[in-house]
Amino acid sequence: MVEEILKLKKERDAVILAHNYQIPEVQDIADIVGDSLDLSRKAADTEARVIVFCGVRFMAETAKLLSPKKTVLLPRPDAGCFMADMISVEDLRALKKKHPKAKVVAYVNTNADVKAEADICCTSANAVRIVESLDADEVIFVPDRNLASWVQAHSTKRIIAWDGFCAVHERISASEVAASRLSMKDAPILAHPECRAEVLALADAVLSTNGMLDYVSTSPARRFLVATEEGILHRMRKLNPHKEFHAAGGPKACINMKKTTLSDILESLTGMKYDIQVPSDVAGKAGDAIRLMLEASR
Ligand code: 13P
Ligand code: SF4
Repeated sequence: MVEEILKLKKERDAVILAHNYQIPEVQDIADIVGDSLDLSRKAADTEARVIVFCGVRFMAETAKLLSPKKTVLLPRPDAGCFMADMISVEDLRALKKKHPKAKVVAYVNTNADVKAEADICCTSANAVRIVESLDADEVIFVPDRNLASWVQAHSTKRIIAWDGFCAVHERISASEVAASRLSMKDAPILAHPECRAEVLALADAVLSTNGMLDYVSTSPARRFLVATEEGILHRMRKLNPHKEFHAAGGPKACINMKKTTLSDILESLTGMKYDIQVPSDVAGKAGDAIRLMLEASR
């Protein structure tokens, strides 16, 4: 199957992008594996005609917004993100009406119509920097309440947060992370900012998934406790074979990130599906919000 995928990939002039949470076989076949920020940069820069996006829908939509002339394929049309679906465009419009002076930051984990209502997007890698770059004292931040509270703790702005969350990261509890630490006192704890504030308070570093990869490769520590979706452990182990990686509080999986298999990728390239389209009435503004983010985080 791997050979067939590689052959078709060449014939179609395609590049395979995969998020750090994808299953190991998918990560291993991808041309580029990364976090949301890195993958959106790579999607914008690629010369390939076709992008096969192994991740969830908002990521493939982001790639399409940045490369509207390219064909962007999402091998599993049902790979959504629960957090992205926690805020609708109507919700955001109502919030903007309530706070007319505030600028709006949409986490990239949103649907394209919500991005179109934002001034700028952010990812977990650049959220504080993006918020600080805005010329406003008040900032509406949607949809993740945990990332919003992390930003609030590191920013001078007043953050108005939406009450959304990632069910996968919310399942990581402070008590289980504290128990992991007791059993491995020498291991630094790395946490994703989608985790609850109590978990972030226990962490030695709060980072995006690529930020975690950089941390573990340069740290002198021999083992690490990682509080995020379990898919990242494969990449950590592959890139750092002499170090040990453990899920802080036990492994947690995002079912949507785990949907894409090698046979889905093969079917995707064979039938050129599922072709991601963003409605033209939102594509321009949503694309601007992402491009502004990329410029502000250079
Ligand atoms: P990163 O951008 O840090 O990879 O996070 C994406 C995500 O969906 C986290 O749940
Ligand atoms: Fe969405 Fe959470 Fe899955 Fe990330 S881990 S894609 S935020 S549901």
